[in-house]
Amino acid sequence: MKKFIFLATLSITLFSCKNEASTPVTTIKDTANCAKPKGKEFEMYRLSEMAALMEQMYVENSQLKERIEKGGAIGKFPEHILKIHTAKLTDPDDNDAFFKDNAAKFITAQRLIYSDTINVKQHFNEGVDACITCHKGKCGGPIARIKKLYIK
Ligand code: HEC
Repeated sequence: MKKFIFLATLSITLFSCKNEASTPVTTIKDTANCAKPKGKEFEMYRLSEMAALMEQMYVENSQLKERIEKGGAIGKFPEHILKIHTAKLTDPDDNDAFFKDNAAKFITAQRLIYSDTINVKQHFNEGVDACITCHKGKCGGPIARIKKLYIK
Protein backbone atom coordinates (compact mmCIF):
# COMPACT_ATOMS: atom_id res chain seq x y z
CA MET A 1 0.00 0.00 0.00
CA LYS A 2 2.75 2.43 0.96
CA LYS A 3 4.52 1.62 -2.26
CA PHE A 4 1.36 2.37 -4.22
CA ILE A 5 0.92 5.75 -2.59
CA PHE A 6 4.56 6.54 -3.29
CA LEU A 7 4.17 5.64 -6.95
CA ALA A 8 0.93 7.56 -7.26
CA THR A 9 2.51 10.66 -5.75
CA LEU A 10 5.51 10.29 -7.97
CA SER A 11 3.48 10.09 -11.14
CA ILE A 12 1.32 13.06 -10.14
CA THR A 13 4.46 15.08 -9.50
CA LEU A 14 5.94 14.03 -12.80
CA PHE A 15 2.85 14.86 -14.81
CA SER A 16 2.27 18.18 -13.14
CA CYS A 17 5.82 19.20 -13.97
CA LYS A 18 5.12 18.87 -17.65
CA ASN A 19 5.98 22.16 -19.20
CA GLU A 20 3.05 23.32 -21.22
CA ALA A 21 4.15 26.88 -21.78
CA SER A 22 4.28 27.41 -25.50
CA THR A 23 6.69 29.87 -27.00
CA PRO A 24 4.82 32.79 -28.53
CA VAL A 25 5.36 33.03 -32.25
CA THR A 26 5.78 36.48 -33.68
CA THR A 27 3.69 36.98 -36.75
CA ILE A 28 5.01 39.42 -39.23
CA LYS A 29 2.01 40.90 -40.92
CA ASP A 30 2.01 44.53 -39.93
CA THR A 31 5.23 45.62 -41.57
CA ALA A 32 3.64 47.02 -44.70
CA ASN A 33 5.88 49.61 -46.34
CA CYS A 34 8.93 48.76 -44.21
CA ALA A 35 11.81 47.70 -46.43
CA LYS A 36 11.69 44.02 -47.34
CA PRO A 37 14.57 41.89 -48.59
CA LYS A 38 14.32 41.78 -52.38
CA GLY A 39 14.53 38.85 -54.77
CA LYS A 40 14.60 36.20 -52.10
CA GLU A 41 11.21 34.60 -52.66
CA PHE A 42 12.62 31.12 -52.28
CA GLU A 43 14.46 31.80 -49.08
CA MET A 44 12.88 32.06 -45.68
CA TYR A 45 12.10 35.62 -44.67
CA ARG A 46 14.93 36.68 -42.43
CA LEU A 47 14.86 39.76 -40.24
CA SER A 48 17.67 42.25 -40.67
CA GLU A 49 19.76 43.03 -37.60
CA MET A 50 17.78 46.27 -37.19
CA ALA A 51 14.38 44.60 -37.63
CA ALA A 52 15.34 41.99 -35.01
CA LEU A 53 16.44 44.76 -32.63
CA MET A 54 13.10 46.51 -33.21
CA GLU A 55 11.14 43.36 -32.41
CA GLN A 56 13.21 42.89 -29.27
CA MET A 57 12.62 46.52 -28.22
CA TYR A 58 8.91 46.00 -28.74
CA VAL A 59 8.85 43.03 -26.37
CA GLU A 60 11.08 44.73 -23.82
CA ASN A 61 9.00 47.89 -23.85
CA SER A 62 5.79 45.95 -23.30
CA GLN A 63 7.44 44.21 -20.34
CA LEU A 64 8.65 47.57 -19.03
CA LYS A 65 5.15 48.98 -19.40
CA GLU A 66 3.84 46.13 -17.25
CA ARG A 67 6.46 46.77 -14.57
CA ILE A 68 5.63 50.49 -14.53
CA GLU A 69 1.90 49.81 -14.30
CA LYS A 70 2.43 47.42 -11.39
CA GLY A 71 4.80 49.84 -9.68
CA GLY A 72 7.64 47.33 -9.84
CA ALA A 73 11.37 47.98 -10.14
CA ILE A 74 12.25 49.58 -13.47
CA GLY A 75 15.80 48.26 -13.69
CA LYS A 76 18.69 49.71 -15.65
CA PHE A 77 18.88 51.40 -19.04
CA PRO A 78 19.24 48.56 -21.57
CA GLU A 79 22.62 49.39 -23.14
CA HIS A 80 22.05 46.97 -26.03
CA ILE A 81 19.48 49.33 -27.60
CA LEU A 82 22.42 51.58 -28.53
CA LYS A 83 22.79 49.12 -31.41
CA ILE A 84 20.12 51.24 -33.11
CA HIS A 85 23.07 53.43 -34.22
CA THR A 86 24.97 50.60 -35.91
CA ALA A 87 22.66 47.65 -36.69
CA LYS A 88 22.32 46.70 -40.38
CA LEU A 89 19.04 47.69 -42.00
CA THR A 90 17.16 45.74 -44.65
CA ASP A 91 17.64 48.77 -46.89
CA PRO A 92 20.93 50.56 -46.04
CA ASP A 93 19.54 53.77 -47.60
CA ASP A 94 17.13 54.00 -44.67
CA ASN A 95 20.06 54.96 -42.46
CA ASP A 96 19.85 58.61 -43.50
CA ALA A 97 20.00 61.90 -41.58
CA PHE A 98 16.34 61.57 -40.55
CA PHE A 99 16.96 58.10 -39.13
CA LYS A 100 20.12 59.14 -37.27
CA ASP A 101 18.46 62.22 -35.80
CA ASN A 102 15.42 60.27 -34.63
CA ALA A 103 17.51 57.41 -33.29
CA ALA A 104 19.40 59.89 -31.09
CA LYS A 105 16.12 61.45 -29.87
CA PHE A 106 14.74 58.01 -29.14
CA ILE A 107 17.77 57.04 -27.04
CA THR A 108 17.55 60.33 -25.10
CA ALA A 109 13.88 59.63 -24.37
CA GLN A 110 14.62 56.06 -23.27
CA ARG A 111 17.45 57.19 -20.96
CA LEU A 112 15.11 59.57 -19.13
CA ILE A 113 12.88 56.63 -18.12
CA TYR A 114 15.72 55.30 -15.99
CA SER A 115 17.25 58.56 -14.76
CA ASP A 116 14.09 60.45 -13.75
CA THR A 117 11.97 57.68 -12.29
CA ILE A 118 9.55 60.07 -10.58
CA ASN A 119 8.11 60.92 -13.99
CA VAL A 120 8.59 57.43 -15.35
CA LYS A 121 5.17 57.12 -16.98
CA GLN A 122 5.55 60.41 -18.86
CA HIS A 123 9.06 59.47 -20.05
CA PHE A 124 7.94 56.03 -21.11
CA ASN A 125 5.19 57.54 -23.27
CA GLU A 126 7.67 60.05 -24.74
CA GLY A 127 9.79 57.04 -25.69
CA VAL A 128 6.80 55.57 -27.53
CA ASP A 129 6.25 58.97 -29.20
CA ALA A 130 9.86 58.74 -30.44
CA CYS A 131 9.26 55.25 -31.90
CA ILE A 132 6.23 56.59 -33.74
CA THR A 133 7.86 59.82 -34.99
CA CYS A 134 10.57 57.81 -36.70
CA HIS A 135 8.10 55.28 -38.06
CA LYS A 136 5.94 58.02 -39.58
CA GLY A 137 8.95 59.01 -41.67
CA LYS A 138 10.25 55.49 -42.32
CA CYS A 139 7.62 52.77 -42.26
CA GLY A 140 4.06 53.15 -41.07
CA GLY A 141 3.20 49.46 -40.90
CA PRO A 142 4.06 48.80 -37.25
CA ILE A 143 2.57 52.08 -35.91
CA ALA A 144 -0.79 50.59 -34.86
CA ARG A 145 1.07 47.94 -32.89
CA ILE A 146 3.49 50.44 -31.33
CA LYS A 147 0.57 52.62 -30.16
CA LYS A 148 -0.56 49.77 -27.91
CA LEU A 149 2.53 50.41 -25.81
CA TYR A 150 1.22 53.74 -24.48
CA ILE A 151 0.46 53.76 -20.77
CA LYS A 152 -2.94 55.33 -20.30
C1 HEC B 1 15.14 56.07 -35.66
C2 HEC B 1 14.01 55.44 -36.29
C3 HEC B 1 13.26 54.37 -35.54
C4 HEC B 1 12.95 54.32 -34.21
C5 HEC B 1 13.27 55.33 -33.10
C6 HEC B 1 12.19 53.11 -34.01
N1 HEC B 1 12.07 52.44 -35.20
FE1 HEC B 1 11.18 50.63 -35.47
N2 HEC B 1 11.87 50.55 -37.37
C7 HEC B 1 12.59 51.55 -38.01
C8 HEC B 1 13.03 51.07 -39.31
C9 HEC B 1 13.84 51.85 -40.33
C10 HEC B 1 12.54 49.75 -39.43
C11 HEC B 1 12.82 48.77 -40.58
C12 HEC B 1 14.08 47.97 -40.17
C13 HEC B 1 14.60 47.01 -41.23
O1 HEC B 1 13.77 46.45 -41.96
O2 HEC B 1 15.82 46.78 -41.28
C14 HEC B 1 11.80 49.47 -38.21
C15 HEC B 1 11.12 48.30 -37.97
C16 HEC B 1 10.31 48.08 -36.85
C17 HEC B 1 9.45 46.95 -36.67
C18 HEC B 1 9.23 45.83 -37.68
C19 HEC B 1 10.36 44.83 -37.60
C20 HEC B 1 10.09 43.64 -38.54
O3 HEC B 1 9.56 42.64 -38.02
O4 HEC B 1 10.41 43.75 -39.73
C21 HEC B 1 8.85 47.08 -35.44
C22 HEC B 1 7.86 46.13 -34.79
C23 HEC B 1 9.35 48.28 -34.86
N3 HEC B 1 10.23 48.89 -35.75
C24 HEC B 1 9.00 48.75 -33.61
C25 HEC B 1 9.62 49.85 -32.98
C26 HEC B 1 9.43 50.20 -31.59
C27 HEC B 1 8.52 49.47 -30.61
C28 HEC B 1 10.19 51.29 -31.37
C29 HEC B 1 10.38 52.03 -30.08
C30 HEC B 1 10.62 51.27 -28.88
C31 HEC B 1 10.84 51.64 -32.62
N4 HEC B 1 10.47 50.73 -33.58
C32 HEC B 1 11.68 52.72 -32.80
C33 HEC B 1 12.85 52.80 -37.50
C34 HEC B 1 12.72 53.17 -36.16
